[in-house]
Amino acid sequence: MVIQWFPGHMAKARREVSEQLKKVDVVFEIVDARIPESSRNPMMEDIIKHKPKVLILNKSDLAERDKTKQWIRHYESQGIIAIEIDSIHSQITSAIEQAAKRATTNIFERNEKKGIHKETIRALILGIPNVGKSTVINTLAKKGAAKTGNKPGVTKAQQWINVGKSLQLLDTPGILWPKFEREDIGLKLSLTGAIKDDIIHLDEVAIFALNYLIEHKYETLCEHYKIDFDRDGEVIDYFDQIGIKRGMKMKGNEINYELVIETIIRDVRNKKFGPITLELPNDELS
Ligand code: G4P
Repeated sequence: MVIQWFPGHMAKARREVSEQLKKVDVVFEIVDARIPESSRNPMMEDIIKHKPKVLILNKSDLAERDKTKQWIRHYESQGIIAIEIDSIHSQITSAIEQAAKRATTNIFERNEKKGIHKETIRALILGIPNVGKSTVINTLAKKGAAKTGNKPGVTKAQQWINVGKSLQLLDTPGILWPKFEREDIGLKLSLTGAIKDDIIHLDEVAIFALNYLIEHKYETLCEHYKIDFDRDGEVIDYFDQIGIKRGMKMKGNEINYELVIETIIRDVRNKKFGPITLELPNDELS
């Protein structure tokens, strides 16, 4: 779904999320493990306030393992509970249930002292579009248990899904807007498919991708396209070489750059150069 975020949409999203937040004990903030900071909503902390949170680095199958571990250590060192998951190919129920317990222990203990006893933790999934919110919900709904069904006062559109023994998840995720303020963040969001292809100029995304691949995955890049690229050459020449090698031509024998650009971006997204992490905790990020 393509969402163009205008201020009115942001205000509405924020209002809706605030309503959802009232019903839950903990928030699962979903991000893309390839760009954990760039794929966060810029106002997340402000929106969820002091609600306990678990940061979920999803799509871990597409990210570099050791770098994902670095991110987890980084967040945990800041007191943020963080886990990595691959919501398509692996079991995620118990990791998510455990993390929710960790995040809510203090609150539940405090409540117990006040005589308030609760058996289940209620959770909401939050994040920007395309980070995998629905996939996580669907995977948990299938693997966990059936939905609890309609309950008085709960509209049909929002139901609770049982996850393991102690967790209930709202089946409608909260959708928030992505960061727009920096060009490199936009390029990362576009390259990973978090923002749609008509928002950012794809030629810039492909140049960004090639520069990244030359710096970090040069051998794999040459191998994949079967071209001995000049490492110190102009990036623009890479487009010509790929176009010629792949026979991507238009009438008059001109190189079809649009096709070359699409191919490079698709190949990155489809893991043709292996798992990719586009940022590290020490990179400067606002
Ligand atoms: P959203 O609700 O946050 O908007 O995201 P959604 O679940 O729709 O997932 C967006 C895309 O990401 C989907 O691909 C989905 O299959 C993929 N995805 C989600 N979780 C994972 C994961 O852990 N690993 C991998 N490899 N992919 C994941 P799609 O339907 O092909 O959409 P698109 O890529 O064409 O946007």
